[in-house]
Amino acid sequence: MKLLVTGGAGFIGSAVVRLAVARGHEVVNLDAMTYAACAENIASVATSNLYSFEQADIRDRAALSRIFATHQPEVVMHLAAESHVDRSIDGPGDFIETNITGTFNMLEAARAFWVEKGKPASFRFHHISTDEVFGSLGETGQFTETTSYDPRSPYSASKAASDHLVRAWHETYGLPVVLTNCSNNYGPYHFPEKLIPVTILNALHGRPIPVYGAGENVRDWLYVEDHADALLTVVEKGAVGRSYNIGGENEARNIDIVRTICSLLDDMHPQGAPHERLITFVTDRPGHDARYAIDPQRIRTELGWRPSVTLEQGLRQTVRWYLDNEAWWQPLLERQGVGQRLGVKA
Ligand SMILES: NC(=O)c1ccc[n+]([C@@H]2O[C@H](COP(=O)([O-])OP(=O)(O)OC[C@H]3O[C@@H](n4cnc5c(N)ncnc54)[C@H](O)[C@@H]3O)[C@@H](O)[C@H]2O)c1
Repeated sequence: MKLLVTGGAGFIGSAVVRLAVARGHEVVNLDAMTYAACAENIASVATSNLYSFEQADIRDRAALSRIFATHQPEVVMHLAAESHVDRSIDGPGDFIETNITGTFNMLEAARAFWVEKGKPASFRFHHISTDEVFGSLGETGQFTETTSYDPRSPYSASKAASDHLVRAWHETYGLPVVLTNCSNNYGPYHFPEKLIPVTILNALHGRPIPVYGAGENVRDWLYVEDHADALLTVVEKGAVGRSYNIGGENEARNIDIVRTICSLLDDMHPQGAPHERLITFVTDRPGHDARYAIDPQRIRTELGWRPSVTLEQGLRQTVRWYLDNEAWWQPLLERQGVGQRLGVKA
């Protein structure tokens, strides 16, 4: 397959690019290289003759048309987005422009290309989204593909809007789309502004580990390489017009994730142990969703996908990766906003 992957220099996109190339797919990576991108994420495939890179912004419709015409993709995997909830609270405008207008541009460029090619039935526009579009759960229940949308942050609202556009382009124009909504990812190459890398790196530096509120918020964690595998499964086997929830059935409270990482570090990097002494409770995020949980039965039963690692295994592998890859994360600590408390405006 020839894939056009947007956001392929980010956390999840780069995992998709690495896996797709390893499986013999041709990949064109379209990325604007924002603060969240990192060329090192795709260094391992950069010289492969299956791989090419286009630095472009999905807000630039003309650039998208040129890239479709040049590369003639069979499948689009659209991951490019502004992705950090805290940044969306401080500056929602970028989220509207990239996540909504950018997705609109991608749909229009893809549709024009697909029409020009004679509407091949095998073409796919795969839109990668989040479980955050479904809002916040109480103590019980799980999100299914038919759960009503109820986004509560500028980030999740912008992703919900993009999901609606993708469905509308299928219903109205017949564009062959598939959608996925995934739970929280973690693993190698995770940008050091999100909970798990912040915890690992602050613990390593002996700095306070910030936990929002009482740390009671529950997330459903999935190892990023398992997500990449699920996304390629959906591209290959998913039914047109259908959406799939992706999750690892690994619910955990934030405070428990942080404590587990501290105890892994006590074992793997005993200097500074016990790392738990660094845990510091800070003012909660405004509108912080209480609980997310994914019911992954559709992707499991219809497409036969399941995750390969448990949360415990994945966290151990992740901590090991950060211990071994200081050359990757050290320069990122200098980027704008990293290490600062963001998203406290209310
Ligand atoms: N991280 C998660 O836990 C998670 C969970 C479910 C779904 N998702 C979705 O998966 C996708 C990827 O998430 P991520 O965590 O890898 O994000 P990320 O922030 O690590 O990477 C986003 C990438 O998109 C690029 N990008 C941003 N704006 C762009 C623009 N205007 N034009 C072109 N490229 C642009 C960035 O340069 C970056 O490389 C997003 O759509 C996100 O909503 C993320």
